[in-house]
Amino acid sequence: MSFCCVGTLPITANRTDYGKPEEALQYVAHLAVLKGIPILAVLGNHDYECGQADRVTEILERYGVRVLDGTAVEVHGVGFAGVKGFAGGFGDRLLQPWGEPVLKQFVHEAAEKAIKLESALAKLTTSTRVVLLHYAPIVDTVLGEAPEIIPFLGTSRLEEPINRYGATAVFHGHAHHGAVEG
Ligand SMILES: [Fe+2]
Repeated sequence: MSFCCVGTLPITANRTDYGKPEEALQYVAHLAVLKGIPILAVLGNHDYECGQADRVTEILERYGVRVLDGTAVEVHGVGFAGVKGFAGGFGDRLLQPWGEPVLKQFVHEAAEKAIKLESALAKLTTSTRVVLLHYAPIVDTVLGEAPEIIPFLGTSRLEEPINRYGATAVFHGHAHHGAVEG
């Protein structure tokens, strides 16, 4: 049984830097070599840059990639719950919805993604559950990044549903110089 996770797009020569549909088309052209292997993905922040994330999703799904967005799927008895996630910081330094409306909106976005993840996890009935995220749910895997950007690399709001429902493994992207495990 093999799985390939895209969305963080580990094949660096073939990624959607600006979320353009033509980038997605270039990317999926390389997926033919994975024929028969289930491919699950979550979008990343780059996929939103051009405001065409829906089109990018449509292209990926047309080529057999299952794009998870608060979605639960089961593949060969393994459950997967995926969502992009969002930023906001970690632990007792977590950004709170207080003050300016735009700041409350920022926190609301993170909370909404955590609810989506919770909803996906709640649907899984498998004993093995894997979570796919773009943003980090814990600070440990982003330590090593410049401290100034750590709150923008993820949020522990995503950790709450993972702890509540339990996960066998969690994978995330977004960080470039963090730690492999946390
Ligand atoms: Fe990212």
